[in-house]
Amino acid sequence: MTNNTAYVDFNTLERFMKEVFITVGVPESDAQICAEVLIAADMRGIDSHGINRLKPIYIDRIKQGVQNPVTNFEIIKDFAATAVVDGHDGMGQVIGKKAMQMAIDKAKMYGIGMVAVRNSTHYGIAGYYPLMCVEQNMIGMTGTNARPSIAPTFGIENMLGTNPLTIAMPSDEEFPFFLDCATSISQRGKIEVYARKGKKLPDGWVIGNDGESKTDSKEVLKMLVDGTAALVPLGGIGEELGGYKGYGYATVVEILSAALQSGSFLSMLNGIENGKKIPFHLGHFFIAININAFTEPETFKKITGDILRELRASKKMPGKDRIYTAGEKEWLVYNERKKTGVPIDLDLQKEIVQLQTDLGIKGFNFPF
Ligand SMILES: NC(=O)c1ccc[n+]([C@@H]2O[C@H](COP(=O)([O-])OP(=O)(O)OC[C@H]3O[C@@H](n4cnc5c(N)ncnc54)[C@H](O)[C@@H]3O)[C@@H](O)[C@H]2O)c1
Repeated sequence: MTNNTAYVDFNTLERFMKEVFITVGVPESDAQICAEVLIAADMRGIDSHGINRLKPIYIDRIKQGVQNPVTNFEIIKDFAATAVVDGHDGMGQVIGKKAMQMAIDKAKMYGIGMVAVRNSTHYGIAGYYPLMCVEQNMIGMTGTNARPSIAPTFGIENMLGTNPLTIAMPSDEEFPFFLDCATSISQRGKIEVYARKGKKLPDGWVIGNDGESKTDSKEVLKMLVDGTAALVPLGGIGEELGGYKGYGYATVVEILSAALQSGSFLSMLNGIENGKKIPFHLGHFFIAININAFTEPETFKKITGDILRELRASKKMPGKDRIYTAGEKEWLVYNERKKTGVPIDLDLQKEIVQLQTDLGIKGFNFPF
């Protein structure tokens, strides 16, 4: 963090985001959900997907007419433990929360619930939705497709979205097992954070048309848009480090997100038609697994906790004194930020001030 970083408490940021959403036409209860999903990212240190996305990914898109502030959540098909929903290009967070709630309700009845969604928009951190399951003693899983950014192994063209495959499972510890990440080595939001800070990207995150790694963060953001660079799947460029595994998992997410709801996929998701911006028509899937239908939740949590503890207690590599399990770092950041608030860098401060001016929002005493 630099000297220019300001800190804002969770509650103030959440209220501000809710107000911004309301001002652009999102109904109050939906605005609350949208703000909740974004603050859930900021609380856990997932800075690529919190308030920094408020303007470019949601407010600008609503203003451009490619996303509806009012969400029409239409159930297309409801078959016992499964359902298909059409989100009609409404707010991805609202569609996501309602769809995962449907999956949870089905899992209460049938042991498992799965909901596939069509015509949605960016739903924020995938992790928000599986965490809803953990609160109900369930395992939660979700995935989403996204505008094309990952090149297949041996390819250079951005074809697959960053397609997170996210899973949360309760444990007997203070935090769950919570694996929430893209199927690319990195993702656009993280590159935006590097560009904001004027930092070079680590080698191997991005492949250019010439097959070489690209590291200029600002340049890469443009190249990803004009198609002269693509993100690299988990594992890396080529086959040597198993890049085909990340490529395979990204494809799994693309198929589950699109094919079960007969929806758009790959290049159809680039948000452009005849040179004009159009809705992204994203697909998501949500799975809730009721642990109670298999075993005692307390037994499940104990075994999960034992697995996580044994992993963390294993021998460390030279120079490292700690092994983490997924979800642990987010829990540590959450505990820290409860006290300090969320760090807001200078560019983001300017964006927040601009939003207040443009939308006539008053009553927030930010320390900048
Ligand atoms: N909506 C979308 O289209 C979309 C697309 C891509 C990503 N995302 C979101 O972006 C966010 C960040 O994704 P990312 O790919 O940059 O994640 P990331 O690379 O930061 O990985 C985060 C995950 O790795 C775990 N982790 C980190 N260090 C660890 C360690 N040393 N040991 C064990 N586990 C560790 C974390 O607990 C967390 O589960 C996620 O919330 C994801 O849902 C959303």
